Amino acid sequence: MNFNFHRSKFIIFLVIPSSLIVALIFIFLKLPSSPPADGNINCHQINLPYQNPTLPIDQRVTDLMNRMTDKEKIGQMVLVEKNSIHGLNDITQYNLGALLSGGGAGPKQDTPLAWLQMINTFQSAAKETCLGIPLLYGIDAIHGHGNVLGATIFPHFIGLGATRDPDLVKRVAKATAEEMAATGIYWNFAPNLDVAKDIRWGKTYETFGSDPDNVAQLGVAYLEGMQDSLNGYFNVLANPKHFIGGGDMEYGTSRNKKFKIEEGNITIDEKTLRQVHLVPFQKTITARARVIMVSTASWQGKINSDNYYLLTELLKNELGFSGFIVSDWYGVYQIETNKYNSLVRAVNAGIDMVMTPFEYKDFISNIQEALSNGDIKKERIDDAVKRILTVKFETGLFDRPQALPEGLSVISNDQHREIAREAVRKSQVLLKNKNSVLPLSKSLKKILVAGSSADNLGRQAGGWTTEWQGIDGNYGILGTTILEAIKNTVSRDTEVEYNEKGDFFTDNFSDVGIVVVGEKPYAEGWGDIANPSLSSEDLLTIEKVKAKSKKLVVIIVSGRPLNIKEYAKNWDGIIASWFPGSEGQGVADVLFGDYAFTGTLPVNWEL
Ligand code: BGC
Ligand code: BGC
Repeated sequence: MNFNFHRSKFIIFLVIPSSLIVALIFIFLKLPSSPPADGNINCHQINLPYQNPTLPIDQRVTDLMNRMTDKEKIGQMVLVEKNSIHGLNDITQYNLGALLSGGGAGPKQDTPLAWLQMINTFQSAAKETCLGIPLLYGIDAIHGHGNVLGATIFPHFIGLGATRDPDLVKRVAKATAEEMAATGIYWNFAPNLDVAKDIRWGKTYETFGSDPDNVAQLGVAYLEGMQDSLNGYFNVLANPKHFIGGGDMEYGTSRNKKFKIEEGNITIDEKTLRQVHLVPFQKTITARARVIMVSTASWQGKINSDNYYLLTELLKNELGFSGFIVSDWYGVYQIETNKYNSLVRAVNAGIDMVMTPFEYKDFISNIQEALSNGDIKKERIDDAVKRILTVKFETGLFDRPQALPEGLSVISNDQHREIAREAVRKSQVLLKNKNSVLPLSKSLKKILVAGSSADNLGRQAGGWTTEWQGIDGNYGILGTTILEAIKNTVSRDTEVEYNEKGDFFTDNFSDVGIVVVGEKPYAEGWGDIANPSLSSEDLLTIEKVKAKSKKLVVIIVSGRPLNIKEYAKNWDGIIASWFPGSEGQGVADVLFGDYAFTGTLPVNWEL
C-alpha cells in the first residue's frame, strides 16, 4: 500500500510532467516555425521522400500521391489562363496545378524581368499549398518566346518546314527553350505536328507543311532541342499538338460561326488518319514526348476530346504514351452544353488535364461531384494525376531553384539571333527566277523598295507575336526589317529609295524594284480564308514599282501559298519568305547571293 502510494506519487509528480515536456519538445520540433494557415499539422513538412531528388521518380510520385486529398488531386487536373485567376490566393486555396499565358497575356509591363517576376510570384503561391506542389506554367512559344517583348523571333514553322534541316530546327528549339527557361517557364505548347492539307486553314503556318515525313522529322528535332537535358531534367517540356488530324478538317464545317475550318470536322478514314496524321505523333512519342494536346477537331462527327478510342485505346494503350493528355482551349466544353457532362466524358475518354481555361471553381466542384457519383472512377483520377506529377518531376519542377534575373541575358543574345538569321536564309524559297535576275548585285546603282511588308516587323513576325493575332507595325519587336536588311547589304554607292505604296517620282528606271507584300498577321480561325491572295493595294503597289523598274522582284511574306497565278508571269523574281521573324537580314543573305537559296516548298504552291 505504502509502496503503491509512493508509486502513484512518483507518477503524478515526475513521470507525467517529464513525458509531457518530452512530448511538447517532440511536437515543437516537428512543427514548422509558424503554424500552417490551414491548421493541418501534416502540411509544409520538409525532408519528405517526394522532396528528395535522389529518389527514383516513381517513388517520389507514389509518396506524394499517398499524401494527397481528392481536392489536391483534382487541382492538378486543371489548366487555367492566368488572367482568369481571381486573386493570387486562389492558386493556393484551390491547389491549382497548372497555369498558362494565352496569346499576348503577359505582365502589365512587357519586359523579360516582369515576366520572370510574375511567374515566380505564381510559383510562390503554389508553394504555399500544403504539399507545395509547383505549377506547370505553359505558353505558346511557337516561334521563339514571342509573347515576350525583346525575345528572338524565329521563322514560323512553315518556314522551318522549307529548310528540311533537322539540325537547324533542333538549335532553334534549344535557343527558344533557353529564352523561356530564363523567364521561369518550362512548358511550350509546341511542336505543332499537324499535317496541313488545306492551306485555307489559318493554322497552316503553325505547321511544318503537308509532308508527313518532313513534319515527323522536324517535329522530333524540335522536341529533342526543347527537351535537351539540363542536369538530367528536360530543359523545357515540349508539347506535340493537336492530336489528331487537325490539318485535314473540311472547309465550311467549323462548329464556330466565325471560322471556316478551325474546330471543324475530319472525314478521312482511319487508314489515312493513321498513315498521314499519326506518324509524327508516333515518332515524337518514341523520342519521349510527355504531353500531348488534343485538337478541337471532330473526326467523323465526334469531337476528339470525347473520343475514348483515339485518346485511350490508340494513344495511351496502343502507342504506349505514358505522359499526360491536355485538352485545348475550352475544347472540352464543346462536347456538350452541360459542363458536368462534358467533363465526365472528356476525363473518361482519357484527358488528364483540362485547359478550361477560364473557370476553375466549377471544374473542381464538378469533378468532385462526378467522383462521389461514381461517374468518374477514383482510378481514372489517380491515373491522370500520376501522369501529370510524373512529368512535373521529370521537368525538374520540384528541384529547380527559381529562375534569377541574371539568367535573362540569354534572351535575344547574338548566338540566338544568328541561329534565327540562319533559319531565315535557309527557309527562303525561290519560286521564280527569270533570266537569273537573282541573286542581285550589291553594287546596283538604284533600287526601289516598296510594299506593305517591307518595313514592318509585325508582318514579318506574323501571329503569336506580342499579341495572339500578332501586330501590324514596328511596335516593340526588336529586329531588322527587310528594308533595313537591304540597306545594310548593298554597296555604299547604291541608292535605295523606299516608299511603302510605291509612289516614286523619278523619271529614270531603277535597276531593280523589290516589292515586299503578303498577309497581315493572324492566328487560328481568324486566318481561315476562302482564297488566300494579295490585296488590291499590294497589287497596285507592285504595278507602280514595275512601271519604274527594269526588273521586278516580289518577296511574299505570308503564312501559306497565295494565289498569284494571274500576275506571276509579269514578275521576274519571286521569293516565298513565309513569316521570317525578327531577323530580316536572313532574307538579304540570299537576295544578294551571300548564300544560295536552299529552301524547298513545304506545301504545294502553283504558280
Ligand atoms: C490553340 C492552341 C494553343 C492554345 C493556348 C488554342 O486556341 O489551338 O494551339 O496552344 O490555344 O494558347
Ligand atoms: C488566347 C489564345 C487562345 C485563344 C483561343 C485567346 O484569347 O489569347 O491563347 O489560343 O484565345 O480562342
